Amino acid sequence: MAIRDIIILPDTQLRLVSKPVEKITSEIRALADDMFETMYDAPGIGLAAIQVAQPLRLITMDLSKKEGEKNPRAFINPEIVSASEELSVYEEGCLSIPEYYEEVERPAKVRVRFMDLDGKIHEEDADGLYATCIQHEIDHLNGVLFVDYLSKLKRDRVMKKFTKAARLAAK
Ligand code: NI
Repeated sequence: MAIRDIIILPDTQLRLVSKPVEKITSEIRALADDMFETMYDAPGIGLAAIQVAQPLRLITMDLSKKEGEKNPRAFINPEIVSASEELSVYEEGCLSIPEYYEEVERPAKVRVRFMDLDGKIHEEDADGLYATCIQHEIDHLNGVLFVDYLSKLKRDRVMKKFTKAARLAAK
């Protein structure tokens, strides 16, 4: 296992549409292991493969609330099957947009279909933080970021801030 570098806004790879995982190979398992390690190290509760520069439809997540308790979950080729009309607001953040948090409104409940690392298909109803997190991570697979839901003013401001930081870091 290894910690991989997380790509940061305005890296254009974050806008790629990730490709489905065709087969669960040893490379995919190794990638998932590295993603868990990277996510726990960050620390974060969710990570999409594109955030470690791999454009594949693979997500890792751990929403366990208790200190020291782990519930690592991998989602392969996840899809939103249905979404509630009811909306909820959560303050979101993203490991690719460090130290930036804003409220985002999304469907409060979704039904999600995905494959696990053993190739088993699951369909689950998600609400609360799980619903928000899975929608945020699936967005990553489609090149969408949570800042895309903000007003143009806020989005421009955060883009400018991260573009400037990248320019300074490159010097
Ligand atoms: Ni994110």
